[in-house]
Amino acid sequence: MGKGTKYVAKVPDDKGFIHYTDEEHRIWHELIVRQKRVLPGRACNEYIEALARLDMPEDRIPQCEEISRVLRDYTGWEVAPVPALINFTDFFNLLANKRFPAATFIRTRDEMEYLQEPDIFHEVFGHTPLLTDPRFAAFTHAYGKAGAAARKEDRPMLARLYWFTVEFGLIHRPQEGLRTYGAGVVSSIGETTYALESEIPQRKPFDPVDVLRTPYRIDIFQTVYFVIESFDTLFEVAQMDLLALIEQARRLGMHAPTFPPKEAVSA
Ligand SMILES: [Fe+2]
Repeated sequence: MGKGTKYVAKVPDDKGFIHYTDEEHRIWHELIVRQKRVLPGRACNEYIEALARLDMPEDRIPQCEEISRVLRDYTGWEVAPVPALINFTDFFNLLANKRFPAATFIRTRDEMEYLQEPDIFHEVFGHTPLLTDPRFAAFTHAYGKAGAAARKEDRPMLARLYWFTVEFGLIHRPQEGLRTYGAGVVSSIGETTYALESEIPQRKPFDPVDVLRTPYRIDIFQTVYFVIESFDTLFEVAQMDLLALIEQARRLGMHAPTFPPKEAVSA
């Protein structure tokens, strides 16, 4: 979510169908084939199993409704096609109603590795599989409801909880070792290997208040990842009073950033 976008939203026709060009379908094909090669042994088993449930096409971009049909069966969620950017209020309200907003455009070929805004590949391949998992779905729903009820000034703080779990979460189990479940990781070939294998980032045990106190930048590989031990942890957080956690985090204060300010990097 930002102020402007260079991407053009794909508008559904009067039957709700979104048309893509052959080139756009080819880009989807290349992305999905590549990520499916990288993810075994790196994405957690819940994600891999959830991806199989959705049985996404590889030769074309799926329609949101195809994904929604499966999600409804498992958890009652749906995918809602939206323009590339929506505001916090719309975002939280959609999640609070178990509707996952998905930007409908797909990246161009010169942005296969890095993309400034979420596209349909990130949204559908990255986010929707785990919405078939009741614990993950409950967490996302609780987040949406808390965001819809939060004061405006609390929303950026709450967004950190989403960022360090739904987008960039890692999970560690004795049997599997370190894996990822975050949509920003599983939909990015570079971040998948970096998040799990690089010695650069910190990997901290997940603690919701600690997460709320941790700053991030959206335009670089992460410098901190939070690691859960089970999806049960997310389910437990879903039962907590998230707005009370925000108050607690505020009292404790923000952690110092572990990355340089944006201006310093681009200067
Ligand atoms: Fe995302």
